[in-house]
Amino acid sequence: MTGISRIGINHIRCIRHAEFTLHPNFTLLCGPNGSGKTSVLEAIHILSLARSFRTQNITKVISDDASKCSVIADYTDLSGGKKVIGVEKNREGDTLMRIDRQAIKTAAELTSLLPLRIISQESYSLIDGSSKGRRQLLDWLAFHVEPQFNQTWGMTQRLLKQRNALLKRKQGFDLNELNSWDTELSQCSEQINEFRTSAFNRFSAHFITYIAELLPSATLRLDLYKGWPENQTLRESLFAGIERDRKLGYTHHSPNRADIAIKVGNKLAAECLSRGQKKILVYALVLAQVATLFSSLKEKHQQLRTLVLIDDMGAELDIKNQNLLLDTLARCNSQVLITGTELAWMKNAISPDRCKLFHVEQGAINLA
Ligand SMILES: Nc1ncnc2c1ncn2[C@@H]1O[C@H](COP(=O)(O)OP(=O)(O)OP(=O)(O)O)[C@@H](O)[C@H]1O
Ligand SMILES: [Mg+2]
Repeated sequence: MTGISRIGINHIRCIRHAEFTLHPNFTLLCGPNGSGKTSVLEAIHILSLARSFRTQNITKVISDDASKCSVIADYTDLSGGKKVIGVEKNREGDTLMRIDRQAIKTAAELTSLLPLRIISQESYSLIDGSSKGRRQLLDWLAFHVEPQFNQTWGMTQRLLKQRNALLKRKQGFDLNELNSWDTELSQCSEQINEFRTSAFNRFSAHFITYIAELLPSATLRLDLYKGWPENQTLRESLFAGIERDRKLGYTHHSPNRADIAIKVGNKLAAECLSRGQKKILVYALVLAQVATLFSSLKEKHQQLRTLVLIDDMGAELDIKNQNLLLDTLARCNSQVLITGTELAWMKNAISPDRCKLFHVEQGAINLA
């Protein structure tokens, strides 16, 4: 069973130094406002992705009186072997990442060991925000399931940048030159679309099951849009849109415009669900991702578990829904961390042998 156990956090916001051991199933972090609960989740996010989920600016994360921060953890891999993984970041923006003392070059190596999903106040943007978050629901799956995804994605972004630079060129451009970019861009983009479509088909099946269980009062539907007209290849749509793109100075149709429409009947969920219902919808989306990843990798005999971080679970959810979500989370084959100001009751709701409760106070983390 993959996951992290002992974790050490140094100089992250109000946490000067903390060391504790996570439960393989549920870890509950309870404490008053401003005690450091979200900072623990931020530390774990840094361990998996080498960046915070709260800010792009690492100097805000590093404790005011420190020059660098670090997170280190014991990790159990797919074969049951133990590894030590760690990330250190300084105020100058340098990042050091290690697996078993060996420096690694890209965060993708850590991310692929430690798939992570977070549910926080920012998660509403999945429903109310731009299409980027919704595309990433699928890209997260494709990253972990399709070994070619990351490289193809990087290539697509580079080609798109080059095409846009050409479109902006003051002295104009030759159509043949544009055509040669378009051929390559279309190939990579169609590949991205295939990865996304395959992820979407699996994902929506899990989503339908979860949403029926968690939000039975509403009938929700997901529709995938690939980022260019459904009845055209990207090659055709780039060709048809050359004049528009030339005027715009950038490429209008591309995989970067893909979206998932989340609908209740004919309306967008963003327009008609209550705040609590939106929160439950976020849980259904994340749970569906976790279940899709687990089942897709299981087919490849890789039982990689996702780390699910839930910040302030009590916010916006009534006790009945919190209980329902705990039940569902308990069945999702993942390692779960939950923060909140009142969590003691959860220990019994989950079953005491499946969870550990910690008290967080002024940056110190102690077993309750
Ligand atoms: N760079 C920093 N250096 C030192 N302390 C910081 C820094 N940034 C934030 N803090 C402090 O860290 C504390 C912990 O913040 P955190 O957001 O983790 O609290 P929390 O327990 O999640 O609170 P809440 O229940 O309100 O969400 C806050 O008191 C904040 O003022
Ligand atoms: Mg918080």
